[in-house]
Amino acid sequence: MEITLSIIKADIGSIGGHLAPSQALMESVHKTVAESASGLLIDWQISHTGDDIALLLTHTHGVGSATIHALAWEAFRRGTETAKAQGLYGAGQDLLKDAFSGNVRGMGPAVAEMSFVERKAEPFLFFAADKTDPGAFNLPLYLAFADPMNTPGLILSPALGKGFRFVIMDVAAGERDKVIELVAPEELYDIATLLRDTERYVVESVWSRATDEQAAVVSTSRLHNIAGKYTGKDDPVMLVRVQMDFPATGEVLAPFAAAHFVAGGMRGSHQMPLMPVPRNSPTSYFDGPPLVTCTAYSMHAGKFSEPQDCFAHPFWDHVRDQAAAKAIEMRRQGFFGAAMLPMSELEYTGITQRLAVLAGRFQQR
Ligand code: 13P
Ligand code: 13P
Ligand code: MG
Ligand code: MG
Repeated sequence: MEITLSIIKADIGSIGGHLAPSQALMESVHKTVAESASGLLIDWQISHTGDDIALLLTHTHGVGSATIHALAWEAFRRGTETAKAQGLYGAGQDLLKDAFSGNVRGMGPAVAEMSFVERKAEPFLFFAADKTDPGAFNLPLYLAFADPMNTPGLILSPALGKGFRFVIMDVAAGERDKVIELVAPEELYDIATLLRDTERYVVESVWSRATDEQAAVVSTSRLHNIAGKYTGKDDPVMLVRVQMDFPATGEVLAPFAAAHFVAGGMRGSHQMPLMPVPRNSPTSYFDGPPLVTCTAYSMHAGKFSEPQDCFAHPFWDHVRDQAAAKAIEMRRQGFFGAAMLPMSELEYTGITQRLAVLAGRFQQR
C-alpha cells in the first residue's frame, strides 16, 4: 500500500511581529485537524518553526489530494480567525486567495508531499525553515546526496554509489513551472552551476538511481510570484527519507553544521546564516537569524513514532554560537554590499520608488 506523507505549512499570524504563533492559534489549528482527521488521515503532527505552522500528515489519498488540501486550508482559515481575534500580527499572511479551489499549491501555503510503499523500517526527516526561502536547502542537499566529503555512504554503500537524480526547478520561469533532471555524479558540475544560484534554481526532489525511489522533496513556492508583491518569505519545508539506500540521518544533518548564509532575515531582504534550532523555536535577532528545525520519525503503516528533535542535541549549541557570531559579523555592515540582497530580490518597493525619483535628478556630464 502506498502511503502519502504531506507537509502543508503556513504563516497565519504571530505574536509580537513575526516571532511565533500563539498557544490559542496552535490549539485552533489542532482542533480543526482533529475534528476532520477520522477516516481521512492515518496520523498527524502539528508544530511550528518561527511564525510558520506545519501540518505533517499521513494518508492514502496521494499527492495533491483535494480533500487533504481542503482540510489544511480549513485549519488555516479557522486559525486565521483566532489570529484576528487575538490581534496577532500578519493574521492570514499566507492565505493569498479568498476561496479554496482544490489545491493549496499556488495559494500561499508551502507544500511538500511524497507517496511511496514503506520499507520494512521507514525512518525520515522533516525539516522546516523560517525567514528564508527554498534555495536554503540547495547546499545541504548537494552535500548530502552528491559529495562523498560529506556523505561517505556514496563510496561505502553500493546502492548510494549508483548516485542520485536531482529534479531542479527554475522558480523564475513565470506562469508555468520549468524543471530539469540531472544525475550525480556524472553531471555534478551542471548541478553545481544551477544550485549556486539559490534564488533562481531550487532542488524540488531527489531520487535514488539504484531503486528509482524518491528520497527527498522540497516545497518550491515563491510567494511573491503568487501575490505579485511582498507577503513574507517562502519559508520552506522538506522531507528526506534516510538510511538503507538513502544517506544516513547523520549524513543529511551534517551539512547544517556550516550555518551557511541564506537569503532572508529582516524583511526577507538580507544574507544571514541559517541557524539549526529545536522544534517550536521562535524567531528573534534581526527577524532571524533564519532558522531551521529537523524532526526525525520512524513510521509503520502510516503511524508515526514519537518525534526526535534532531537539533536539540548539545552538538548544535556550538553551531548556534557560530551562527550567532556570523550573524553579528554580517550585520556590522548594515545594508552595504553582500549584507543585503541584490535589487532583484529585495522584497520592498520603497527602494525602487526612491531610485526612480533619484534617476530624474542625475545630470549628464
Ligand atoms: P548502525 O550500525 O548503528 O545501524 O549504523 C549504521 C549507520 O548507518 C550509521 O551511519
Ligand atoms: P515571515 O515571512 O516569516 O512572515 O517574515 C516576514 C518578515 O519580513 C520578517 O522581517
Ligand atoms: Mg510572518
Ligand atoms: Mg515565517
